[in-house]
Amino acid sequence: MFRTTPNRVNYACFVRSGQASEEAFEAFGKEAATYEQNYSHDAGRYPDHVYRLRIFQDLLSALRPTTVLDAGCGSGVPLVTLLDSGYDAYGFDRSTDMVAATRQRLASANHSPTRVFEGDLDKFTNPIGKPFDAIVGLGSVYYTSDTSTTIRVLTEQVRDDGAVIFSLRNQLFSLCSLNEYSADFLLKEIYPIQATEGKVRNELIKFFAARFPKLDVNKLFENVDERNIRSKLHNPLTVEAELLIPNGLVLTGLYYYHFHALPPIFEHTHQQLFYELSSEREIPTDWRGLVSASCFVVHATKRR
Ligand SMILES: C[S@@+](CC[C@H](N)C(=O)[O-])C[C@H]1O[C@@H](n2cnc3c(N)ncnc32)[C@H](O)[C@@H]1O
Repeated sequence: MFRTTPNRVNYACFVRSGQASEEAFEAFGKEAATYEQNYSHDAGRYPDHVYRLRIFQDLLSALRPTTVLDAGCGSGVPLVTLLDSGYDAYGFDRSTDMVAATRQRLASANHSPTRVFEGDLDKFTNPIGKPFDAIVGLGSVYYTSDTSTTIRVLTEQVRDDGAVIFSLRNQLFSLCSLNEYSADFLLKEIYPIQATEGKVRNELIKFFAARFPKLDVNKLFENVDERNIRSKLHNPLTVEAELLIPNGLVLTGLYYYHFHALPPIFEHTHQQLFYELSSEREIPTDWRGLVSASCFVVHATKRR
């Protein structure tokens, strides 16, 4: 089974969120030429992008918007999918390399390269000069410095009753990941370490160190936090009050993806089995998603 290294006795060892400093558009921009691999079922990594895109496609085909804006469009696989489905779609990204990759993809798929432009999630120019029927953000809005500001800026460019649909990282997955994220979440939100001092604080740290020891496992890849990319986690139970209502949106639905049928460390030790079992779990409305899916999609509607 897993070997462990001696217990850590320092709270900093558990802190998993809010520490990273690299900007996402710079980090992902370096992958522009290969980013499309994320949409393959056999690229040697879990196909969460495939499941995410499927949720967006299903929501849009029920809504039937005419105009769609893809905010943080990356190398353009979702944008081309939207155009191929008949939407009057545009996309933008802050990474010059991602925009260039999208332009190439558009040209290869016989779509106009003017469908993509460079822009920042918190400040961009609306390319059609009128509000969109729907704005989507696939794996993008939680990379800015303040997600609520980003949602407000996007919502300004959507028509009344229009849709704002975006994915987020699920903070409640920390309860089932059974690793440093669990300790970090519990010590911040449930058993606040800030409220303790002296002997009790040391006991609390030792208590968590015993339950969440560092495992000696050779990891197959690094996640965004291990890559030092700045991003945020969000709680699906509070997202309506924190991100939607203050920005003039109503919650229309939540959909989970990137399910974990085994604790995440098993992805590094039993990769194939992890993929098979987790793929079977990819039912976006399954209640288990609340705690065992690492991401979720928020479907919101702009209030009149
Ligand atoms: C994880 S990738 C997802 C790409 C694409 N949406 C997809 O699903 O294939 C995140 C994207 O968000 C972009 N991004 C990050 N911060 C941004 C910002 N402030 N403004 C615009 N784009 C940003 C990155 O450059 C990157 O292309």
